[in-house]
Amino acid sequence: MHSIARISTLAVLTAAALLGLSGCGKETPPPAPAAAPAAPSVTVKIGIVAPLTGPQAHIGKDMENAVKLAAADANAAKIMVDGKQLNFEVQAEDDQADPKQAPVVAQKLVDAKVNAVVGHFNSGTTIPASKLYSDAGIPQISPSATNPKYTDQGFKTAFRVVANDNQQGKVVGEYIAKELKVKNLAIIDDRTAYGQGVADVVEKAAKAAGATIVAREFTTDKSTDFKAILTKIKGKKPEAIFFGGIDTQGGPMLQQMKALGIKAQFVGADGIQSSELFKLGGDAVEGTLASFPGLPIDKMEAGKSFNDKYKAKYNQDVVLYAPQGYDAFNVFVDAMKRAGSTDAAKILEKLPSTDYKGITGPIKFDEKGDIKDGPITMFKAVGGKWEAVATIGGAAPAAAPAAAPAAAPAAAPAAKDAAKK
Ligand code: ALA
Repeated sequence: MHSIARISTLAVLTAAALLGLSGCGKETPPPAPAAAPAAPSVTVKIGIVAPLTGPQAHIGKDMENAVKLAAADANAAKIMVDGKQLNFEVQAEDDQADPKQAPVVAQKLVDAKVNAVVGHFNSGTTIPASKLYSDAGIPQISPSATNPKYTDQGFKTAFRVVANDNQQGKVVGEYIAKELKVKNLAIIDDRTAYGQGVADVVEKAAKAAGATIVAREFTTDKSTDFKAILTKIKGKKPEAIFFGGIDTQGGPMLQQMKALGIKAQFVGADGIQSSELFKLGGDAVEGTLASFPGLPIDKMEAGKSFNDKYKAKYNQDVVLYAPQGYDAFNVFVDAMKRAGSTDAAKILEKLPSTDYKGITGPIKFDEKGDIKDGPITMFKAVGGKWEAVATIGGAAPAAAPAAAPAAAPAAAPAAKDAAKK
């Protein structure tokens, strides 16, 4: 049976070769050998860490999905480095958004000798974990951790593909005081590295721009009942409330504000700028403002096609940081190609000179490992969707279209200068 099959395969191949040769007289490539020896391959392990269970699982799964999609795409592309085909394996770990759990799972990835890590999601987990990756010489790119401290520690292994909260918080604080002309602002944070950190920057920037902070309250990233602090805040009659925290708290907080009859403008940062907020807060979300350290997905280089591909695979739109997770993975691939190696140490040598065109936009790093010229977008919740209302900063477009509308990009250069101060 086997030999008959082999003979007939040979006959077909021979016939095909003859047909090819006797074709129309044009150059014909030689027939492919019947069974080319498979290229040698090398396994590359990429860790992805985020909250995969618990109240923030929807955000962590979104990042995990993106990294798995990036790995599948990279495997399909049959990338060759140093004569070997890269075979990517993804090891996903769950830090539960818990600063104590983060080093435990980071150690698991170190022990597994991963070549690189995408993660973590929260600043509160990214910062403690970064020490372990630094000690082990494993490159780390967080798609989402925005607390400046992450890259302020001097670790050569720590990178992020988004602007940090010195930039994000300043944009939000100034937006509240200057654009919304808010005089009296109340601030709530969730006492995490992220929530408290971004709230501090918002407070400083809003004050510098002339606003008064009439209340500063805090909760936790586990709380669900905010009525006591909201009632206190109501008595201070703020025109706006800024919340430094995640959508898991933001949604119920908005509902409780509505129930208490608080009309103040609700403003948050990237932690609440998810598609999930609309499920968590229902119609109380309408009118909410939130920032995100990146472009709106429809303005990203390949945001729309990425969302289509993501939706086809996972049956949902991007929740929050999937595009940045996808890019973080590919920044590592780009470094491997340039290094001609998949070794962690060689990837690290090449990461600082990254000049990568990601789906989110151009990615280059400054000397700390922060993205250069990362834009910040302000969004407003309108009819159950986020609408971009302003994008501040970001890299100047490589070549402006000849008939670009004059008004749209006007804010960019000024804000870029402002962000550097
Ligand atoms: N940017 C948020 C953080 O740093 C998600 O935790």
